[in-house]
Amino acid sequence: MTETVFITGATGFLGSYVLDLYLRETSAKLLVLTRAKSRADGLEKLWKALQLHMSAETFWELEGRMEIVSGDLASPKLGMDDATWHRVATESESILHIAASLNRKSEKACLNHNLKGTLSMIQLARAAQDHHGLRRFANVSTTAIAGKRWSETLREDEALDWDRSDYDPYARTKKFCEHMVAELLPDVPTTIFRPSTVMGDSRHPRTTQFEMVQAFNTVFDLPAFPIRPTARVDIVNADWVGRAMFEIFRDDAKAKHGIYHLSAGEASPVAKDIAQAMAGAGRRPPVMVPGLLGATQTAFDLIAGLPQRNALTYIGSLFKVFLPYITFDTVFVNERASEAIGRKPVSFLEYGPAFAEWCREQKYRFDYAPLPERPARVNVGGEISA
Ligand SMILES: NC(=O)c1ccc[n+]([C@@H]2O[C@H](COP(=O)([O-])OP(=O)(O)OC[C@H]3O[C@@H](n4cnc5c(N)ncnc54)[C@H](OP(=O)(O)O)[C@@H]3O)[C@@H](O)[C@H]2O)c1
Repeated sequence: MTETVFITGATGFLGSYVLDLYLRETSAKLLVLTRAKSRADGLEKLWKALQLHMSAETFWELEGRMEIVSGDLASPKLGMDDATWHRVATESESILHIAASLNRKSEKACLNHNLKGTLSMIQLARAAQDHHGLRRFANVSTTAIAGKRWSETLREDEALDWDRSDYDPYARTKKFCEHMVAELLPDVPTTIFRPSTVMGDSRHPRTTQFEMVQAFNTVFDLPAFPIRPTARVDIVNADWVGRAMFEIFRDDAKAKHGIYHLSAGEASPVAKDIAQAMAGAGRRPPVMVPGLLGATQTAFDLIAGLPQRNALTYIGSLFKVFLPYITFDTVFVNERASEAIGRKPVSFLEYGPAFAEWCREQKYRFDYAPLPERPARVNVGGEISA
């Protein structure tokens, strides 16, 4: 089946995993929303995202399957002119909405990109449904919608609880996005994907996303850290998350449920083992002092709020944002997704040491290769074309 799929967030870290699978394993046509202003910028962005997965030669072979749609979630009608919006709505047979702002500190970014953006995506989905019927609308959410928790193991239907406070605007807006999808598209087959903390690829140590691993490495380089040694941390490998999103979204026979946790679940590693795995040769993991959690959180909140910007306030902000997610000892059962795709995530303890070391060596930066000129003759699906 050659389907036309409208996809957002494909130029991002997780989106690149799904896009790669779509390009290699299907013949679907992909309408790719990006804030790139021109086709050339869009191609650069796609290449930046896809070079983690493929050579430039393969990129040019597959490029014709991707149509760049310039737009912006935060703008009316997704930043498209009327004709483009109408065409995307009438051509899209399924919609995979991955894009979001992950800026946990900014109410404004989360409100505009996540809440307003998802509402605009739902409006487009509504038009597509009324025009020809949508096979599926999927929305990538996060396990952060579970709000403030302490030492829990949550299944999909237990995680969203309106009586709980949220850690940040990111979690709050993503929670309401789930609600909008359920309320406004009752007649469309919908899927909600909730990844937990996605870190690294189990097949190789390379990544293009460094925020979380830098936070973990910083934390576990300290002499002491306020966490229970046996606290579980739900870290999941990106290759499994991408595969699960791709297979469940694409194959209706696998999409038996409305919501999927894409997480390490009950197999999540505990803090002392993660610290050991990330410590690397010659480093000592921190002494774990759970009793200091409250005081540490208060201290880092204060430091993060200081007006000056320097290494200390940077670390303060990092901790303020990520501390709850590292210390809340809450994991998300992944049986639905594991069953659907017939495999479980790989334990972080297996691939984490090489991954953490590579990220340190790279100083948390990916060495992006520029996109070479399109070759004069490209091998498209086995045929040579100019
Ligand atoms: N990474 C994780 O650990 C994790 C964990 C749980 C959930 N998630 C969820 O997974 C999804 C993807 O996360 P990620 O880590 O891959 O993010 P990412 O690397 O930061 O990528 C963000 C993507 O969103 C797009 N985007 C952002 N704002 C946009 C806007 N206003 N208009 C159009 N596109 C916009 C970006 O596209 P352009 O820049 O090309 O416009 C980019 O493709 C998000 O929904 C996130 O909440 C991620």
